Amino acid sequence: MSLDRLVRAAAARLAEAGVPSPDVDAEILLAHVQGREVGEVRRARIMGEGVPGATRTAYLGLVDRRSARVPLQHLTGTAHFAGLELSVGPGVFVPRPETEVLVGLALEALEGMQEPVVVDLCTGSGAVALAVAQGRPDARVGAVELSEDAHGYAVTNVGRTGLPVDLRLGRAQEAFPELDGAVDLVTSNPPYIPPDAVPVDVEVREHDPGLALYGGGRDGLEVPLEVAARAAVLLRPGGVLLMEHADVQGESLTAALAAQGTWSEVDDHLDLNGRPRVARAVRA
Ligand SMILES: C[S@@+](CC[C@H](N)C(=O)[O-])C[C@H]1O[C@@H](n2cnc3c(N)ncnc32)[C@H](O)[C@@H]1O
Repeated sequence: MSLDRLVRAAAARLAEAGVPSPDVDAEILLAHVQGREVGEVRRARIMGEGVPGATRTAYLGLVDRRSARVPLQHLTGTAHFAGLELSVGPGVFVPRPETEVLVGLALEALEGMQEPVVVDLCTGSGAVALAVAQGRPDARVGAVELSEDAHGYAVTNVGRTGLPVDLRLGRAQEAFPELDGAVDLVTSNPPYIPPDAVPVDVEVREHDPGLALYGGGRDGLEVPLEVAARAAVLLRPGGVLLMEHADVQGESLTAALAAQGTWSEVDDHLDLNGRPRVARAVRA
């Protein structure tokens, strides 16, 4: 069987299973099995290349698992985020492209500051902290994560990228006590999904850890507001908190932050689809 026919058959199978981007996933999985770039796979398809039996068997095994809606990133072991290639897998939240909006706002907030101190609360794979460290090599970046599994991936990612992030295992609510009042920027993409808003996508519902998804309380904002309270202690006056939230929480989160009484300005930012996704608050 030609490589092209194999990929077409795999894409059809993935489409039947409801995978949202079957053609791309079919190519990425083959590239992963062959240790090639996706562009090379595309060229090989056009050139009518064949497939060795062992490759075919390994590939079809991955296509089976993807058809069962195992996340693509768990099968390849990597996620791409803000120009970084990060290790991910079972036990850690897969970083999402929309969170790059938070990174962009963070780098904007740091403009004009020399050697800023940044803390990322609820860091998961380390995605946001590492992206900020990459964008601002002069920054001192700390990050904290509660889950041992997720923290393990973050440790791997600090090693893999070589970026200098001070990584801690523990609760965001008590993180970095030695930095109280000395931090310029706190970033956070905490768990924020309300208890009754179970995600529709199987990849999310069954494979992202519950600790990464559900924010607690009636509206999912219990952990985010505890994290914001910790951020208020960490930040110097004029320091900035940037926190991702669900699109339906733009008003409720900013109102709750304003009610904390520690912020001089609270506003909200839209993602690339025009939906409210990141709250910004300035420490009074
Ligand atoms: C939505 S995920 C985001 C991970 C990462 N910031 C990203 O954007 O890819 C939330 C993360 O917060 C962690 N977490 C949940 N509660 C926490 C807490 N109290 N303290 C520290 N981390 C916590 C979860 O384990 C999970 O890794």
